[in-house]
Amino acid sequence: MKDFTYYNPTDIRFGDYIDAQLAKVVAHFGQKVLLVYGGHSIKKNGLYQRVIDLLKGFDIVELAGIEPNPKIDSVRAGVKLAQDRDVVLAVGGGSVIDAAKVIATAAHYDGDAWDLVVDRDLAQKQTMLPLVDIVTLAATGSEMNVNAVISDPSQNAKVGARCPNPPAVSFLDPRLTFTVPASQTAAGSMDIFSHLCEQYFDRSDSNDVSKGMIEGLMQTVTRWAPVAINKPDSLDARANLMWAATNACSGLVGAGTESRWSCHAMEHQLSAVYDVTHGVGLGILTPRWMQYVLDHDESTAKLFARFGHRVWDLPVLGNVHNRAQEAIDATWSWIFGLGFGMTLPEIGIKDEAHFAEMAKTAAAGGLDHAYLPLDAQAVEDIYRASIT
Ligand code: NZQ
Ligand code: ZN
Repeated sequence: MKDFTYYNPTDIRFGDYIDAQLAKVVAHFGQKVLLVYGGHSIKKNGLYQRVIDLLKGFDIVELAGIEPNPKIDSVRAGVKLAQDRDVVLAVGGGSVIDAAKVIATAAHYDGDAWDLVVDRDLAQKQTMLPLVDIVTLAATGSEMNVNAVISDPSQNAKVGARCPNPPAVSFLDPRLTFTVPASQTAAGSMDIFSHLCEQYFDRSDSNDVSKGMIEGLMQTVTRWAPVAINKPDSLDARANLMWAATNACSGLVGAGTESRWSCHAMEHQLSAVYDVTHGVGLGILTPRWMQYVLDHDESTAKLFARFGHRVWDLPVLGNVHNRAQEAIDATWSWIFGLGFGMTLPEIGIKDEAHFAEMAKTAAAGGLDHAYLPLDAQAVEDIYRASIT
């Protein structure tokens, strides 16, 4: 296990606490609120009106229309509104919370918000407004981490920023995710599963704490995602996915590992150039990445075989390479069973025009230190393998 420091001050309110506590929590930071949300989902399911009613008497300015894969122009619009605010309240999925994080970070910065997305040291020097959020989709874990992923379509860029603080308070009520459609439930579950894979495939010695927690969370996601898809108002399914999502990406399960998030680096290029849904891109890339790793490094077969046994309940008998292959096949079947298209053409990516450039950018993000080091050629090979 590697040395690590871990500090995570987010105050979590999991369950039916919004009506009783939202106003009190927001008032703790002040009366001037910037309310940030996405498209129509919170208006359609009544959450918008509920929040407005609960915050009666507060001075609220609104920023609506944060898009999936949030764009820097929306962040810039938010920064203008945030300057005299006491607190930012984000109501939505990861895109809304990510945009709100950067808005809160850039509120008192004199330059352009994009500077803070690309320059992590500069971002750390900012005084961030307090951020409160209400999560409406189980996926990213943004509610308990400092990450924010922002796109700039003018340069085909999607970049992971690091804000000075995670949200101060996050409300997680799984009932709010009953209205998440099946396709987004699948994408969110895939994202959770990918976060776990990125930290599980790690070469630091003997980190059984990490491995054990991750295997438990993987079992949770693989069990409950199909239930939530088939029965959207299953509170058990929604609650397990929601808490698994938070824990998968809060930094805790990855503490002491050397993880380098290969599939995320490759997927962020897909969303940057083609604006695809993050979890959908991960569903295609993850099994291809696994296959590439097994095909290029036989020493990894043992860990894949353990993953197959602990997560997919595969028997421990037989040749280790075959067991590793069965684990990858089981992963593929689970993803396919969630309703995903399993090739890039199925999500509208029909040519290879941008692959070389995307591969170069993805590889430059530290993949030379990944679980299996990947150069630009290797990443390009994985994109190509995702075509059929
Ligand atoms: O915009 P609205 O109308 O709210 O609709 C959203 C959106 O269309 C809808 N939705 C959300 N909650 C709903 C709902 N529809 C019905 N009922 C509800 N309760 O779902 C759609 C997708 O929302 P989005 O916020 O984009 O999804 P997600 O939470 O998966 O966030 C994805 C973004 O987060 C980034 C991704 O790259 C992507 O940009 N990530 C952020 C991370 C982080 N901060 O730690 C880590 C992740 O790896 C990821 O990269
Ligand atoms: Zn992700």
